[in-house]
Amino acid sequence: MSEKQLIVTIDGPAGVGKSTVSRELARRLGFTYLDTGAMYRAVAYACQNAGVNPADEDAVAALIHDLIIELQPPTSADGDVRVFLNGKEISNFIRTQEMGMLASRISGLPVVRDKLTDLQQQMGRKGKIVAEGRDTGTVVFPQAAWKFYLDARPEERARRRAEQLRDRGEVADETEIRAQIIKRDQDDRQRTIAPLKAAADAIIIDSTNGTADDVTRLMIAHIKQNSFQPV
Ligand code: DC
Repeated sequence: MSEKQLIVTIDGPAGVGKSTVSRELARRLGFTYLDTGAMYRAVAYACQNAGVNPADEDAVAALIHDLIIELQPPTSADGDVRVFLNGKEISNFIRTQEMGMLASRISGLPVVRDKLTDLQQQMGRKGKIVAEGRDTGTVVFPQAAWKFYLDARPEERARRRAEQLRDRGEVADETEIRAQIIKRDQDDRQRTIAPLKAAADAIIIDSTNGTADDVTRLMIAHIKQNSFQPV
């Protein structure tokens, strides 16, 4: 059997609370939080900024060839990962619903997945990572020691996402967000490469009726019980 890596993966659909839980889990374990969705959002932003058609794979390939994407830890306990594109901070531009939809579109392109998967694997090489996304347990880190798949009903996910957007001062229409979430999940699940799905060895947690703290505690308990070395 190949060796397990000191990595936690948390996959699941849009708006399920992966970021809150991943950030908190990373803090409690003393691991680095790797937000892979932020990297797909960064590529989406680059495409929009350069006026590149997301359906034109050659144009996207040319654009991302020299793109430098860097992540830095959040500045506050409840902040988002900071994202830099060719040295310029773009954190404030990528967390919109629109950028989420565009990220989902470009994430189906093999050239984008290859580049970002490679980058994520480099970032995880030393271990001690909590990675969140859609394919972190299935494709990016198949040897991760602890894998989770978070799920919740679409209505609850739309409510949470709307609340999050309002907290950031954005206008949020919950019905529209729900429709967008459902469409994005469908696309993310149905794409040919690295679709959204639970790894066969992932623990599935439904967070519809639980708080982020409940979920984090459950995960910590599982990690400690199934630890191959002290964490
Ligand atoms: O987690 P998020 O909402 O920031 O992700 C935005 C989109 O990026 C998501 O709808 C699909 C894509 N994505 C992906 O394909 N694989 C990942 N590991 C993470 C995100």
